[in-house]
Amino acid sequence: MNPTDERPPDFFPRPVSESQSEMNEFVLPNDANPLGALLGGRLMHWIDMAGALAAHRHSRHYVVTASIDHLDFWTPVHVGDLVVLRSSVNRVFSTSMEVGVTVWVENYLKDEQRHVSSAYLTFVAVDAAGNHLKVAPVIPETEEQKRRYEDAGRRREIHQAERKRRQRNSR
Ligand SMILES: CC(C)(COP(=O)(O)OP(=O)(O)OC[C@H]1O[C@@H](n2cnc3c(N)ncnc32)[C@H](O)[C@@H]1OP(=O)(O)O)[C@@H](O)C(=O)NCCC(=O)NCCS
Repeated sequence: MNPTDERPPDFFPRPVSESQSEMNEFVLPNDANPLGALLGGRLMHWIDMAGALAAHRHSRHYVVTASIDHLDFWTPVHVGDLVVLRSSVNRVFSTSMEVGVTVWVENYLKDEQRHVSSAYLTFVAVDAAGNHLKVAPVIPETEEQKRRYEDAGRRREIHQAERKRRQRNSR
């Protein structure tokens, strides 16, 4: 840390790797429908939690979920399965950050993982009173992280245009 740098310690740029998080959940009967398949709403909850983990670790602040991108569920998940959720911050804007979450179902007997879902969430950093706070920049290091960083910028432009269109139409 540069001693002459006057930025607060929580505002120093951090690599994506510092926010990388993993959450594991066993699917229990209470998480499933009568056919024993994982409820989509339960998975959405876990995705929100996994995303918040990465957002907290990067921003070192409280965060609220501003939006969740559309979700596809590609692989069915059943009672007894192990669900693995991996998350990291793709890009920071000002007070908001995009987090990517990928979901896998792990067959621990065969040492295999199948891709269940992917989602992009936007979190906004807030203080205890709910005021928005600026978030430290994130540094993408690998080629994959750089691609996600660029893609996050494109998604933000599309979302902002769509939000404006919806606001105009609701007047
Ligand atoms: C999300 C929320 C903080 C945005 O506040 P706001 O005053 O309406 O928004 P602002 O226009 O000041 O924007 C603040 C930031 O949020 C982003 N943002 C606002 N609405 C957004 C949305 N729907 N999707 C993605 N980002 C959004 C803005 O782009 C901006 O980002 P930036 O500072 O990085 O440029 C506010 O609407 C809120 O508190 N919503 C409820 C959140 C909640 O309860 N979540 C579920 C429980 S955690």
